Amino acid sequence: TVITNIATLVTNDPSLGRVSSRSGTSEGGGGSPLGLVRDAAVVVDGDRIAWTGEASKAPATDNRVDAGGRSVLPGFVDSHSHLVFAGDRTEEFNARMSGRGYTAGGIRTTVAATRAASDEELEANLTRYLSEALSQGTTTMETKSGYGLTVADEARALRLAARHTDEVTYLGAHIVPPDLADDPAAYVTLVTGEMLDACAPHARWIDVFCEKGAFDGDQARAVLTAGRARGLHPRIHANQLSYGPGVQLAVELDAASADHCTHLTDADVDALASGDTVATLLPGAEFSTRAEWPDARRLLDAGVTVALSTDCNPGSSFTSSVPFCVALAVRDMGMTPDEAVWSATAGGAAALRRTDVGRLTPGAYADLVLLDAPSHVHLAYRPGVPLVSGVWRRGVRVV
Ligand code: NIG
Ligand code: FE
Repeated sequence: TVITNIATLVTNDPSLGRVSSRSGTSEGGGGSPLGLVRDAAVVVDGDRIAWTGEASKAPATDNRVDAGGRSVLPGFVDSHSHLVFAGDRTEEFNARMSGRGYTAGGIRTTVAATRAASDEELEANLTRYLSEALSQGTTTMETKSGYGLTVADEARALRLAARHTDEVTYLGAHIVPPDLADDPAAYVTLVTGEMLDACAPHARWIDVFCEKGAFDGDQARAVLTAGRARGLHPRIHANQLSYGPGVQLAVELDAASADHCTHLTDADVDALASGDTVATLLPGAEFSTRAEWPDARRLLDAGVTVALSTDCNPGSSFTSSVPFCVALAVRDMGMTPDEAVWSATAGGAAALRRTDVGRLTPGAYADLVLLDAPSHVHLAYRPGVPLVSGVWRRGVRVV
C-alpha cells in the first residue's frame, strides 16, 4: 500500500534533520526534530514501513490511498496508563474542583471497586479505554496493575492486561493497602516475594509510587531491585506531589523512565541529563488535580529526553487523549508543537526502550495516524478538535 498526497509527514527520522533543543536552531535540512517531509508518501508492506519520502519519488504499488493533502505522523506511544480498574471517582474530582487537594488516598476507592469487579467487567473497561485511545491515535499503550494489591488481584490485572498489550507493568507497590496500613514492611515483603512470583510471568516492567503517603526511597529501591532480579525492567512514579528521592533512584537503577517529574531540584535535572532515563511528563494529572505544571522547557534545555503520556486512570487523570496532552504541554509547559509531538511518539518509544514504534522509518511497525490538518502543529493549534481521521496499526487500517 502507498499512502500518498501527504502535505506533511512526520517520520522522526533523525537523519532528516533535527532541532537542537539547547539552541532551538536547525542543525540539519529539516529544521525539526521530527524528520519532516513535505508532499510526501509512505509505503507499507505487511505490518512494516517499507519506504518514506517525497511523493513524486514513491515506488509504484497496486494499492493507493490518497491522503488528500492531510498530514501523517507515527501512532502515539502512550507509555503510562492505569487501565485495569472498576468504578470512577467523579465525587473526588468534584470535590477537588471546589478546592480540595489531591492525595494518594483516593487510590483506595478504586482498589475496593476493582477487587469487587468480575474479570469480565475489568476486561470490558480495559478494552473500552484502549479503543478510545486507539481512535485518538494511540497505537502502543503501556498499562499497569496497582488497583488490586493482593497476590490474586494483582496477578489477575496483569493477566488481563497482557491479553491486550505487550507493555504490561507490575505496580503492586502503588500504595500500602488499607488492610496492611499498620505494617508497610510486611506489604513490601509481599510485593517483592509472593506477589512478584505471581506477577512476573505476565509483565515486562516493574513500577513503584515513590511518594509521601506511598513508598519511600528505601522501599522503592527494594521493590525495583527485586523486580529486576526477576527479569522485570524498572520504571517509577517519581516526584509527582513533592520533592523526593525517586528521580535520582531511577537514574541510579537505569530505569527506562521516571514518570511525573513535577517537583525537580537542579540535582534531579542533572541526574536525568547524565543518564538514559527518560522523563515522562503527564500533564493530564496536573490538569485534573489543579497542580503546578512540570517544567518541560527546563528538562529539554538541560538535554533530557522527554516523553508525554496520558497517565489515564480514574483518579488523577481520566483522559485517554494524547492530543489533549500535547496541547497542554505546548500551552503550559514550554514545549514547541514539534517537541510535544516528538515526545508523544518517539519520546514514548524511548520510555519503553523501543525503536520499532514511534517513528516512520523503513523496518518500523506501520503504526500511523492520518490527521485532518495540513500539519501536526494543529494538534496544539486546534485543541479539543477531533482531527484524527485515520489510524493504521501494524499495517491494518483500524479507524
Ligand atoms: O499516576 N500517582 C500514582 N498513581 C496515579 C494516580 C492513581 C489514582 O489516583 O488512582 C498517578 O497519578
Ligand atoms: Fe500513574
